[in-house]
Amino acid sequence: MSDAAKAGGSNEHGLVRLRNPLEGDAAAIAAGQALFAGKACAACHGASGGGGMCPPLVNDAWVYGDDDTTLYHLIREGSMAMRARGYARGSAEKVAGDMPPLGSALSEQETWQLIAWIRANHAHAAPRAPATR
Ligand code: HEC
Repeated sequence: MSDAAKAGGSNEHGLVRLRNPLEGDAAAIAAGQALFAGKACAACHGASGGGGMCPPLVNDAWVYGDDDTTLYHLIREGSMAMRARGYARGSAEKVAGDMPPLGSALSEQETWQLIAWIRANHAHAAPRAPATR
């Protein structure tokens, strides 16, 4: 794990807290979009992440949480590893099965590029209502 991704401390599951060093980076978002299509993510989650057989990545329901630490480990290690650490499936998202571990096919940088794209795509697809004043 590169130092740039360490956010300090650990979470309640004993994982070092992470923050995406590529968040909001336009080149990383574009690379992440290409990886999403090329690394089989789209086969399960839909071409634009809107869901298919598996949960959508564009809504506000997240199976194990939406923080960078959780998404990084879920993508690389799969959902069985998350539950083995004590993560529980949130009830808001439909259960479609387990996410396979894909870390052997992705570098650390590619994983952050994917997460940068997921964030940007999420913000684009599901704009939040403006805060009431
Ligand atoms: C074989 C099908 C499959 C493939 C391939 C796959 N996923 Fe998943 N993914 C799932 C399933 C199923 C879940 C829900 C896991 C659970 O409920 O434990 C999931 C969950 C997720 C989540 C959390 C979604 C949420 O709403 O909380 C993210 C983010 C994610 N996958 C990203 C990816 C990325 C990025 C790739 C490609 C590198 C990928 N997935 C490839 C099946 C897949």
